[in-house]
Amino acid sequence: MTRMRMKRHIPERMEKCHERWFDDPAENKGKWREVCGMPPDAPLYLELGCGKGKFCNQTAEDNPDALYVAVERDKSVILAAIEKAHNNELPNLFFINCDVNNIEDMFEADEVDRIYINFCDPWNRRNKPKRRLTYRDFLAKYKNLLKKGGQIRFKTDNDDLYDFSLEEFRFCGFELSEITRDLHNSEYDKDNVRTEFEQKFADEGIPIKRAVATLC
Ligand SMILES: C[S@@+](CC[C@H](N)C(=O)[O-])C[C@H]1O[C@@H](n2cnc3c(N)ncnc32)[C@H](O)[C@@H]1O
Repeated sequence: MTRMRMKRHIPERMEKCHERWFDDPAENKGKWREVCGMPPDAPLYLELGCGKGKFCNQTAEDNPDALYVAVERDKSVILAAIEKAHNNELPNLFFINCDVNNIEDMFEADEVDRIYINFCDPWNRRNKPKRRLTYRDFLAKYKNLLKKGGQIRFKTDNDDLYDFSLEEFRFCGFELSEITRDLHNSEYDKDNVRTEFEQKFADEGIPIKRAVATLC
């Protein structure tokens, strides 16, 4: 199938999986657990920039008691993630097709327990640091959604983005732990679920960097 033909079919393929996404996700603000059929005390985990959804699908399947909401702005990419969840019949995984810039429209203060940021676009530190999903303006938004004690779990292949992100987490008052520059050869690899990009970088021999930032 050519890329053009695939793109033409996006609306009908999205429609087939409509139970996984919402016409107006902002309407769910403050009531995601209820709307998604989960108990009121279920943990709510976000993945920002989920790509084709290998990570959120596997993690949601491994943790059926948690609610997962994955965010991705590229419609043709999120479609692949949504179709995986639809085919796997996962009852606890839902999607938002939007830019992370708008995340505060979707979630209430204290509604979120954990955020995953996996291999976000590195951009150039000189010219485009503000586009990095770990830039302080984004972190300020995440702080508004996260519960006290909530976490951001961050992974990247990129040394410069990693150093920058640790600085930004500290600047915004997060407490850092589980810091490693070689995740796959560390004690933290035991429960690690590899993303699509992570597997690609690992195959190229690039060490994966990881840190956990906790909101105190
Ligand atoms: C390098 S890919 C990584 C995908 C996946 N997390 C992985 O590790 O395999 C980054 C993804 O984040 C998405 N993305 C980048 N900036 C975004 C934003 N501001 N809002 C929503 N999605 C974004 C891109 O469209 C892309 O799919």
